[in-house]
Amino acid sequence: MCGIVGYIGDKESQQVLLSGLKRLEYRGYDSAGIVTLGASGEPTSLREKGKVAELEKKILNHKKDDEVGIGHTRWATHGAPSKRNAHPHNVGDIYLVHNGIIENYQDLKTELTKYDYDFKSETDTEVLTALVDYIYKKDGTSLVSAVSQALKMVVGAYGIAVLSVKNPSEIVVARKGSPLIVGLGDDEVFVASDASALVGHTDQVIYMRDGEIGVCTREGVQLYDIEANEINASVEKLELDLQSIQKKGYDHFLLKEIYEQPESLNSTLLGRVSADPLRARLGGLNMSDNEIRKVEHVMVIGCGTAYYAGLEAGYFIEQFLDGVTFSSQIASELRYRSFTVPKNTVALIVSQSGETADTLACLQELKRRGVKCLGVVNAVGSTIAREVDGGVYVHVGAEISVASTKAFTSQVAAITIFGLMLAQAKGVGQMQLRSYIHELEALPSEIEKVLKKHDKEVQKIAKAYAHYEHALYIGRDALYPIALEGALKLKEVSYVHAEGYAAGELKHGPIALIDDRFFEVCYIQDNWLYEKSQSNLIEMNARGAHAIAITNTSKRIAAEKVIRVNTKLELFTPLVFNVISQLLAYYVAVARGNDVDQPRNLAKSVTVE
Ligand code: AGP
Repeated sequence: MCGIVGYIGDKESQQVLLSGLKRLEYRGYDSAGIVTLGASGEPTSLREKGKVAELEKKILNHKKDDEVGIGHTRWATHGAPSKRNAHPHNVGDIYLVHNGIIENYQDLKTELTKYDYDFKSETDTEVLTALVDYIYKKDGTSLVSAVSQALKMVVGAYGIAVLSVKNPSEIVVARKGSPLIVGLGDDEVFVASDASALVGHTDQVIYMRDGEIGVCTREGVQLYDIEANEINASVEKLELDLQSIQKKGYDHFLLKEIYEQPESLNSTLLGRVSADPLRARLGGLNMSDNEIRKVEHVMVIGCGTAYYAGLEAGYFIEQFLDGVTFSSQIASELRYRSFTVPKNTVALIVSQSGETADTLACLQELKRRGVKCLGVVNAVGSTIAREVDGGVYVHVGAEISVASTKAFTSQVAAITIFGLMLAQAKGVGQMQLRSYIHELEALPSEIEKVLKKHDKEVQKIAKAYAHYEHALYIGRDALYPIALEGALKLKEVSYVHAEGYAAGELKHGPIALIDDRFFEVCYIQDNWLYEKSQSNLIEMNARGAHAIAITNTSKRIAAEKVIRVNTKLELFTPLVFNVISQLLAYYVAVARGNDVDQPRNLAKSVTVE
């Protein structure tokens, strides 16, 4: 989604901003822009529709050695993707970049037109810019005071960076519901909405909290609350390195991240599970053993892949944990439902980015109701990670590709470890738990083996099936969430229309779809459901299916293509199959010539609902 960068120091700010914007490209955007101020405030504002590369060409023709500036990548909400709607917006003395949504912008706009403001764009951001300008001029006040007064009139979510042409020695920043980080260097200060833009510049950062406003100068940042009272900032160390945000020789981040799974999963498991002595332990939950024993219901909440991770882990956990009910909820649905929370519920808030607006809203509502909320988050220092009562980082490192892969596998693992902890606390048999922990420990090397063995085979199949416009993914039991996740991956990166279904639902509707425009992906595990899954295949074949089966059985499989995965796992076999469908989605997208890492219309972190 939209990205913000800012810089004040003695470097050429255009170059710092440009490199920051390039780092934010992975978040998804449709236009980009920067504004820098000369020593006496003369502005150079450059905006372009499309990629940052277009903006870069423009910067080359308008080079300045200005030492202060702000920049933005925009993902359109109000108004089409266009140069006119791109940020920074300028009204009077003020330049402003904004992430989020100003909900009452129409009312504010109507008011401002009474004071001769007219608007060139369709954006809510331009209205906020005009509001700041109006107060700044009317009251002859400082920029920080004008921003603070303007924000008090605003309903909505924002992360903003603001410049005044009257004072090129400061950038004013503020956040509410949209992340903003200030990076402290030697006589220079950086601003970014995402830590990746700060890597390599500084590892000393301040994660701004909701309601805070900051005045950045070369010397540092002074934070204020919304009433303009000074507050102290706590400086933290940025846990992200340059290596983790580079492609390391892979063609795309997506492929790199698929291949990183053995390593990233090991980081998730490290120190948290052991078969001998038997141990499943997540530090940082802030729950006593007694509280853990009392849990009767686990509610897992997330969006997209994070939601599917909750569904998948639920299937695993019910294999070994009786007496605890488990539900997985789509955050955007839950937040508007009048739901009841059973007593002794723990909520697991699952998010790679830790910034997803709907997930965050659920967290806030559940906390309001007094429910214990634990995070299952990847991005360190993100909003969800800071607002939960406790939780666990999945530690997969930076996930740059918009399509989530390594985060999914580790989210499932982390939630499952939570289930194992509950099982241990409730006295579930050691033998049974030990066998699951053994499997979990073996999972990274099983994934590694499968990646090595099947990459070329999947690539070949993907090329042969890349011309289909539709796909149906089916699976039973723990392979049902894998079918949902497999279909999501394919549609995100290849733009092939794909649907995931519980295989037992075929005859209840989706079998009507099957024709020559479709291919089908069927997950079949060699267990008590093998016969049923095979019957599904036969039924589909009778209607002209072009099925690809992903299976671990050596028995007969009635599919056009069969990818036979040899794994010693039982419970976690679905996660191994999932790696095959990640590769399939990747190679179909490559065969179709798509922008694999930044698929159209998508954003990595969905900070508006
Ligand atoms: C996954 O491939 C998607 N891009 C998307 O569904 C994602 O999982 C979802 O937006 C949730 O993101 P989060 O984990 O950062 O909260």
